[in-house]
Amino acid sequence: MRIDIATLFPEVCESFMGESIIGRAQRNGYIELHAHQIRDYTTNRQKQVDDYPYGGGQGMVMQAQPIHDCCQDILRQIDEAGRSRPHIVFLTAGGATLTQEKCKELAGYDGLLLVCGHYEGIDERVIEELADEEISIGDYVLTGGELAAMVVADSVFRLQPGVLSCPEGYEDESYYSGLLEYPQYSRPEVWNGRRVPEILLSGHHAKIAEWRHEQSLERTKTRRPDLYQKYIERGGK
Ligand code: ADE
Repeated sequence: MRIDIATLFPEVCESFMGESIIGRAQRNGYIELHAHQIRDYTTNRQKQVDDYPYGGGQGMVMQAQPIHDCCQDILRQIDEAGRSRPHIVFLTAGGATLTQEKCKELAGYDGLLLVCGHYEGIDERVIEELADEEISIGDYVLTGGELAAMVVADSVFRLQPGVLSCPEGYEDESYYSGLLEYPQYSRPEVWNGRRVPEILLSGHHAKIAEWRHEQSLERTKTRRPDLYQKYIERGGK
């Protein structure tokens, strides 16, 4: 899978995504990330990408033209690389909230083009022109879309074959089954006077699985009653 990011801060995205598991998966050729500088596509001498909002109001708005031309050039590069047109996502506070379900859906595309806004917003016309969808990473407002784009890229890349050393890993974890993950423990057996739950040392796999499931249920019930309700409505599956 290939993800392209259109941003005012391509170095930040490349640097962050170059570390750890996602960085290694890129170096091993399982995934590709390309970050592109929107400012390179301005047509004015000051390389300005924003302007005052029509109708007045606070802050500046990112103009349509540089974002549009940047995206068109990215689409051309992707086409030249012999790939199909990517699914285009604008990261905005007003988009639909990202969920694990949505991550799984996005992971099914051959490519994504993630477009990051900055300042108070993006000229709506370029969103209408290009976006397949708008995504928000939560009910709070960021100063730009970069963190959101990296959240999307990370959560989608880790679902690709070859990225995680143990792909079964994610079937257990929070949200995959609609439940929060059970608590995890590692060595030593006693740390700061706190013991690892005895059952985990028993070697009894069926009982451990049962205990973990109960813990997941209990956690979800107390911490995320909304998720618990959905789980019960689906018949506990
Ligand atoms: N840009 C500003 N806030 C955002 C959010 N919550 N999610 C995605 N993009 C954003």
